Amino acid sequence: KILILDFGSQVTQLIARRVREAGVYSEIHPNDVSEEFIRAYGAKGIILSGSHASTYEAQDLRAPQVVYELGVPVLGICYGMFTMAVQLGGTVEASDKREFGYAEVRARGHTQLLDGIQDSVTPDGHGMLKVWMSHGDKVTALPSGFKLMASTDSCPIAGIADEARKFYALQFHPEVTHTVQGAAILRRFVLDICGATPDWNMPDYVSEAIAKVREQVGKDEVILGLSGGVDSSVVAALLHQAIGDQLTCVFVDNGLLRLNEAEQVMQTFARNLGVKVIHVDAADQFMGHLKGVSDPEQKRKIIGREFVEVFQAEAKKLPKAKWLAQGTIYPDVIESAGAKTKKANTIKSHHNVGGLPETLHLKLLEPLRELFKDEVRELGVALGLPHDMVYRHPFPGPGLGVRILGEVKKEYADLLRRADAIFIEELRNNRDADGRSWYDKTSQAFAVFLPVKSVGVMGDGRTYEYVVALRAVQTQDFMTAHWAELPHALLATVSNRIINEVRGLNRVVYDISGKPPATIEWE
Ligand code: XMP
Repeated sequence: KILILDFGSQVTQLIARRVREAGVYSEIHPNDVSEEFIRAYGAKGIILSGSHASTYEAQDLRAPQVVYELGVPVLGICYGMFTMAVQLGGTVEASDKREFGYAEVRARGHTQLLDGIQDSVTPDGHGMLKVWMSHGDKVTALPSGFKLMASTDSCPIAGIADEARKFYALQFHPEVTHTVQGAAILRRFVLDICGATPDWNMPDYVSEAIAKVREQVGKDEVILGLSGGVDSSVVAALLHQAIGDQLTCVFVDNGLLRLNEAEQVMQTFARNLGVKVIHVDAADQFMGHLKGVSDPEQKRKIIGREFVEVFQAEAKKLPKAKWLAQGTIYPDVIESAGAKTKKANTIKSHHNVGGLPETLHLKLLEPLRELFKDEVRELGVALGLPHDMVYRHPFPGPGLGVRILGEVKKEYADLLRRADAIFIEELRNNRDADGRSWYDKTSQAFAVFLPVKSVGVMGDGRTYEYVVALRAVQTQDFMTAHWAELPHALLATVSNRIINEVRGLNRVVYDISGKPPATIEWE
């Protein structure tokens, strides 16, 4: 396995993903983990991530010195290169020119890391790489033992190597897809240089995960809050295979779900798979508490709190349960660890991590803790869940509560559900020239209810009704997103159908804001 030390870059997670795509298990830990931890971890190699900080702002952001003393290969990326250079005796200076985005890198000399990996070759025989850079500082003197490995026009030292110690550092980011050969470079590092075994794959993982759950849980009973989202669904399927009837799922209908969602969840899990599911219809309770509340953060808190309340009441009825299962996935783990060390900035209070355990006195069972979203989906397929469920767009915990702007009312939720269902149906039915549906070509799509009325005309009559906004985005990581360039004909069909089929709505608009500056959800 490979250890990644995180200095707070937005793209650190991608390093772990690329390494796992090479078939090698990897974990991300904060850059300031203890020396003992690093020694005991037994990594075949260590990668130092980038950071949002510059070396000057961050005198204390260093890798523990032990990283360079273990005798394993080390790869520094961007900030990771600076800290490696500084810690091993080189110098780093602020540059007068910031380099951000696309760059062309020329390989220098021969190194095991880059040899034979290139996008093109110059007439004088140097490999050229198309890469993505993001930095302000520069290495200006090499630490002793190092040689130059790569350079660009504006950054003469864009890669350094000490091949005797197997220390490598790159100024550019090999983990992002804009660096065309990035995955190949990381594969070279972990497989050839570190000699890690590529034995991380899904079928093995399924049996491993099932065995692990059985060992952990024994004969105890387990409760799971099943939301119908991808993560909790996969947990339900996994636990059902591992421990059968020792699992009880609690499905809370908060009145803010999508059209027919409760029905679908009960069909898939209770009737098709034979999972024990308690279906709690708590719509009135949620709506009651949301009455008169229009502040988004307040709404989120109420919905989160009521969920805990309802869930707790159900849990009390299952006194034999010793475990609370949760669909926590690896990005959640890193995000909450990041939030603790203040490396990440909280824009919205997502309520799917934490909250429940302390009040319930149950032990936590988080079988997806080590997996990325795409791995969770693969696992779901391997466990036999329907493709459409596993590849569903994400749906926020507070549901339509944050898609009805301002005060939430049942009347609004009913209108929104129908408009949303039409939009999604059309996205699923419309295929592009390449045969993929627009649902699959977008990362998240939904309708938003705007509690404003506008004037329209229908037949001979004047209408004065509500507006819905359509939102569809494309993104890799949900931290940045582009609005989707849906075909106008598709938008036209959706708009016509919504206005004709949903009485109470007479205007449909399309959201053309990117993230940033807008967020994906409207609240
Ligand atoms: P934003 O709106 O912050 O959304 O750009 C990014 C992603 O997070 C989802 N989201 C949430 N998920 N609880 C959740 O479980 C929440 O409170 C919440 N708020 C936003 C959003 O749907 C998008 O996928």
